[in-house]
Amino acid sequence: MDDRIKPPSTIPAIRVVMMPKDTNAEGTIFGGVILSLIDQAAFIEASRQAHHRYVTVSFNEVEFHKPVFVGDVLTLWAQTTRIGRTSITIHVGVLAQRRTHPDVEVPVTEADVVFVAVDESGNPTPVLPPA
Ligand SMILES: CC(C)(COP(=O)(O)OP(=O)(O)OC[C@H]1O[C@@H](n2cnc3c(N)ncnc32)[C@H](O)[C@@H]1OP(=O)(O)O)[C@@H](O)C(=O)NCCC(=O)NCCS
Repeated sequence: MDDRIKPPSTIPAIRVVMMPKDTNAEGTIFGGVILSLIDQAAFIEASRQAHHRYVTVSFNEVEFHKPVFVGDVLTLWAQTTRIGRTSITIHVGVLAQRRTHPDVEVPVTEADVVFVAVDESGNPTPVLPPA
């Protein structure tokens, strides 16, 4: 493990209740809503590692294993897996606590998000100072 990476956070990056505004025509939650939350959770974790202006450069392939319903409580755990020169990679796991079964958390999806730290002009800038 890269010792420049701070230990994983002991608290989730995000916990949020899914609301009716987030549903598709079938009444389940839009995948895009979850993707947006993943992006935000990854940003929160990246900012915990080093404060920067970050832009998202890539998401790996994302597969939804289970649907998410209105009233579910989503928990997003984020962990930094790599710090490059100007990029940082965050792994995000998404769990759903069902409104009807609050004692169970179901893994919904996971993703690896890569951000690039940029300066005021949008040019890549080092995430960490040189050692
Ligand atoms: C992100 C961006 C600044 C990178 O610019 P670039 O000229 O490709 O920069 P570089 O080639 O110097 O690469 C910078 C870093 O990004 C990484 N990178 C570039 N493309 C990548 C990709 N597709 N996947 C993963 N990492 C990537 C490089 O490996 C490098 O990392 P390192 O410094 O840790 O080694 C530029 O592509 C950009 O502005 N993209 C738009 C980002 C954005 O607006 N996102 C929100 C979309 S709404």
